[in-house]
Parts: sequence; structure tokens; C-alpha cells
Amino acid sequence: MADPDPIGAVRPPLVVAEAVQKYFPLRGGLFARAAGSYLRGVDGVSFEIPRGASLGIAGESGCGKTTLARLLLRLLTPTAGRVLFGGVDLSTLGGADLLAFRRQAQLMVQNPYEAINPRFTIGRALAEPLIIHNIGTKEDRLDRVVEALTQVNLHPADAFLDQFPHQLSGGQLQRVGLARALMVDPLFLVADEPVSMLDVSVRAGVLNLMRTIARSRQLTTVYISHDLSLVRYVCDTSMIMYLGSVAEIGPTDAVLAHPKHPYTQLLVAAAPVPDPTHPAAEIAAPEQVPTPIGPGRGCPFKDRCPQVMPVCHTTVPPLSFVGPNHQAACHLYGPLH
Ligand SMILES: Nc1ncnc2c1ncn2[C@@H]1O[C@H](COP(=O)(O)OP(=O)(O)OP(=O)(O)O)[C@@H](O)[C@H]1O
Ligand SMILES: [Mg+2]
Repeated sequence: MADPDPIGAVRPPLVVAEAVQKYFPLRGGLFARAAGSYLRGVDGVSFEIPRGASLGIAGESGCGKTTLARLLLRLLTPTAGRVLFGGVDLSTLGGADLLAFRRQAQLMVQNPYEAINPRFTIGRALAEPLIIHNIGTKEDRLDRVVEALTQVNLHPADAFLDQFPHQLSGGQLQRVGLARALMVDPLFLVADEPVSMLDVSVRAGVLNLMRTIARSRQLTTVYISHDLSLVRYVCDTSMIMYLGSVAEIGPTDAVLAHPKHPYTQLLVAAAPVPDPTHPAAEIAAPEQVPTPIGPGRGCPFKDRCPQVMPVCHTTVPPLSFVGPNHQAACHLYGPLH
């Protein structure tokens, strides 16, 4: 029998975003509505994530990372564009197919105290996804809960079963959050700032665990983080977003070691450097506060860009290849330069 997944074979992507947009209507006054004002949360984002690969999404607060995560999980529907999962347009799912998708695609959120019901014991909270998806008998479920606690290094597992979330530390509870997401054997895991609320001393432990489990299970993962060192540590591919758009995407080593987009260059320069005698560069202060509201013209980064050119004020830069599998949305590399 042929090997179903020979090494080196091109695997079809599990998740595909095709020109995905999410615009939020502005509530504002009558004028705002009459003028058709909207906020461009996510503005035409495309990428593919091969099965078993990890994509890191980074960018400053408000650039659309969480909105994009929610679109990938069909917790939001796109204003335009499509998200495909295993080749199927998420917007077409309903009934049993949607339930199956809910099982296959899991979310891990930033605040573990929000993710776990405070009135449930840890044992009950972990059994909950199995109950919802009608998996196993009561005994099977208990076995799986103990196995899951052990897998996320909460030892001895029995000691955690009857505890309540407030009795655990943030790091322990985020491990429970990971265990909970894995209870139903998902194919796809989206982790939105999974360690940013944790004490620095426990971050590495939780990240290592996530990386090891994701690799051993061939999980397809999306990690969202402000922290480029996290992205560098866990992600094969990195995508840098700016005001709802992709500024740069490519292999993590290339994007973070040789950033091409001026925004990525500023982010990388501003990220903490190990040598404390080497001061980090400051990100150029915007002349105008950038906003994802209104029709917008030209490059979204033009008001902050140290290398702005006349064309940047008039034309949105398309993604252009700057290396193997590496693209940047900047006129410095585009056909108009
Ligand atoms: N339901 C909503 N209604 C209106 N605007 C929204 C809604 N959700 C998000 N936004 C706006 O969309 C933009 C993107 O928000 P999003 O939460 O995706 O950013 P983010 O990159 O996750 O930021 P952070 O790093 O702070 O978590 C922001 O301007 C936000 O205010
Ligand atoms: Mg967010």
C-alpha cells in the first residue's frame, strides 16, 4: 500500500484564508452611518497553513489579530472573502458538519481564568467538551481527563480533579486551558496571546509544552502574540499585520532575521535585545494616529513609514515576493518602484 503521507510530499493546506475581510459598521451618530463609515478590522488577508505547520501572527494592538482568529474559527463571518478548512468554505457549514468543525478547531485564549468556568471543578471542566460532543462513557471520560492532566504536566493528576480554577496558579490554569482544547483531539488550534498574562518565569514552560504537544500530534497551529520572540520560538511561518492588512509573511527565520517591510523592520528593531548595553530603537511616532476607519488611500503604513514615497499616498501596495515564500506589501519591492 502506498504511503499516504510520504516525506517531502506537498501536503494540501488545512486552513486557507482567501482575501478575508471583516468590516465593523460604526455605531456612531446618524452622520457616521449615513456616510457608510466602517472600521476595517481585517482588510483582505490571504494565506495558507499546511497541515501540521504553525503560523505566527504578530502586530500591534488593534491590527486585527483576534478578529482574524475568530474568522478562522467561524466565530465571526467575513464581510467578504472566504475561509476554507480542509477545502470546505466555513460559511457553508451547518448542523453536524459545523459541530464536527467545532470539535476539530479549538481556541486557547489569553486569560485562563476566563476560559474555565469558575463554578466547575477542573475534572468537570475538562470533561465538558467530551460531554458536549457525546464522547465516551463516564469512566472513559475520567480516564481521558487524567491522561490529559498528565500530558500537560499537572502531577499528580488526581490532586487537580476536585480543585476549582481559583485554587490554581495562572500557569497551571493555562495548562488546563491547553488540556481542555486538546480533549477532543482537534486538528487545528488557535492560541491567542497564550502566555502574555502569565508570569515571565512560567511562560517558557507553557510554550515548550505547547510546542512539543503540537509537534507530536501534528497539530496545525496559529499563535497570536505581540512578542516576536514567542513567534520566533514556535512558528514555522510568520505573518506581520498592520491595520488589518498583511505587511509581511514568510518563513519565520527570513521575516524576523531579514525583515523587508519597513514596519517589520521597526518592530524587530524595537523588540528587546539580549545585550542591555545595546539600546533598542524606538518606533517612529506617527504624525497622525493611524486608524482603520474610513476608506483609506494608499499604503496603510504611509504615515509612519521612514521610507515613504509619493506612490505610497495613492496606491495600496500589493504583496510582492522578496525571497522564497517570503512576501512584503511594500512599494519598495513592487512593480511601481
Ligand atoms: N465586534 C467589534 N465591533 C467593532 N469593532 C471591533 C469589534 N471587534 C474588534 N473591533 C475593532 O477591530 C480592530 C481589530 O481588533 P482586534 O481585537 O482584532 O485587534 P488585536 O490585533 O487582536 O488587538 P490586541 O493586540 O489588543 O488584542 C480594532 O480597531 C477593534 O476595535
Ligand atoms: Mg487580540
